[in-house]
Amino acid sequence: METIINAPHETDNLDPRTDAAAKVAGAPAPVTIAPVKLGRITVPTPVMLSPMAGVTNWPFRVICEGYGPDGLYVAEMITARALVARNPKALRLCRFAPGEKTRSLQLYGVNPAIVEQAARIVVDNGMADHVDLNFGCPVPKVTRRGGGSALPWKTDLFRDIIQRVVRVCGEAGIPVTAKIRVGIDHEHETFLEAGHIAQEEGCAAVTLHARTTAEYYGGHSDWSRIGELVSALDIPVFGNGDIWGAEDALEMVRETGCAGVAIGRGCQGRPWLFADIKHAFAGSDERTDPTLGEVCDVIRRHAALLTEFYDGDERMAVHDLRKHIAWYLKGFPVGGSTRKAFMECESLSDVDREIGELDPTVRFPERVKDKPRGRVRFAKKVHLPYGWLDSRTTTHEERETLFGDDPMDAGY
Ligand SMILES: Cc1cc2nc3c(=O)[nH]c(=O)nc-3n(C[C@H](O)[C@H](O)[C@H](O)COP(=O)(O)O)c2cc1C
Repeated sequence: METIINAPHETDNLDPRTDAAAKVAGAPAPVTIAPVKLGRITVPTPVMLSPMAGVTNWPFRVICEGYGPDGLYVAEMITARALVARNPKALRLCRFAPGEKTRSLQLYGVNPAIVEQAARIVVDNGMADHVDLNFGCPVPKVTRRGGGSALPWKTDLFRDIIQRVVRVCGEAGIPVTAKIRVGIDHEHETFLEAGHIAQEEGCAAVTLHARTTAEYYGGHSDWSRIGELVSALDIPVFGNGDIWGAEDALEMVRETGCAGVAIGRGCQGRPWLFADIKHAFAGSDERTDPTLGEVCDVIRRHAALLTEFYDGDERMAVHDLRKHIAWYLKGFPVGGSTRKAFMECESLSDVDREIGELDPTVRFPERVKDKPRGRVRFAKKVHLPYGWLDSRTTTHEERETLFGDDPMDAGY
C-alpha cells in the first residue's frame, strides 16, 4: 500500500523574470560571484553541473568542463545499495576521467546504514573528492520507497543519513553537500528545516531545486524560495531550476543572493552553456553560437568519449549517445527521417554517415536558444509510502517496511 497525492496544478510559481520585483527600471545590477569553499575544496566559480541520471557520466562532464568555469561537475546519482553490492554498472558510473579537477559523486539511499556503508566504500577506495546526497529525486519509483524528495519529510531519517555520511567522509576530509527540493507539495514543505538540519550536521553546502515533488518538472521553479533559504542559512546555497541561458544564471544570483548556481536540463545538447555562464560571471557579453557543423564536431567527440567509457563497446556508446543527439539537434532544421536514422545508429560509422548528411553551415536556431528543454511536466501523482505524511519521524513499522527486507539494516 502507498499514499498517493493527486497534485493540483499549482500556479504560484511564477517565472521570476515576469515578477514585478524583477522589473525594476534601468540596467540590471552587476553580479558578483565569489569562490565557494566546501571544506578543503575551493570552487573558484561556483557553477555546478547538476547530477542527471543517464546524462552526467564522465564523457558528458568532460565536455561540459571543457567549456566551463572551474566549477563542480557532479556524477549522476549512485544507489548506495548498488555500490555496496559492487554492482558493475554502479561502479562504472563512479569512474572519473583523469582531467576532472574535482571528483564529485552523488549517493542516493533510504537506509542510513546502507548509505553509510556506501560512503565508507567511497572513502576507503579514494573514489571521490566531494560527496553530494540526493534528497531531491521526484520519480515515483524512488519516492514510493521514501527516498529522494520524500525523505526530508522524515527528519530523523534525513538527519541520520547526513550525520553518518558526514562522519565517514569527514575522517578523510571529504566535504558533503545535500540536494533538496522545496518539499513534497506546498502543504508539506521541508526545505527550510532540511537546510537547517544539513547545516547542523556539517554539510558544506546545500543545493535547492526550487520545486516541490508534486511540481516535478512543470511550470517554473520558484526562485524566491532559494532567496528564503539563503537568508536562513550560513552555509552556501546553490540555486537550481530553470537556468536556460547565461542571463538566467546572472538573474538567479541577483534575485536570490545564492552563492552558486546548478545547471541541469539547460545544458542537455548545449554543453557550451557553461562557456556562456563563465563569460557572464566574468562580466563579458561573449556567447557561443555554434553552427550545425560545430555541433556535429561535439557529437563526434562525445561519441568517442562514450566509446572509451563503455570500454570500446561502440554499440553501448551509440545507444547512450542517441538521447544526446536528439538534444544536440533540437531546433535545427533536420528532417524526421534523418532524426530517425540517428536513433537507429549502432556504431560510430553509422553516426558519421548520418552527420555527413547534414548541412554544417546552418546556424544555431534563435528560437530554441535559452529556452526550456528536456523534461517539463508536472507530476500526475505523488507516490509515498503508506501513511508517510502522518508524522515527521519514522515509526518502527515504517522502518520495518522500508528496511525489513534488508539484511544490512540490523543497526537501525
Ligand atoms: C534526466 C534527469 C535526470 C536527473 N537525475 C538526477 C540525479 O541523478 N540526481 C539529482 O540530484 N538530480 C537529478 N535530476 C535533477 C537535476 O539535477 C536538476 O535538479 C533539475 O533538472 C532542475 O534543474 P534544471 O531546471 O536546471 O534542469 C535529474 C534531472 C533530469 C532532467
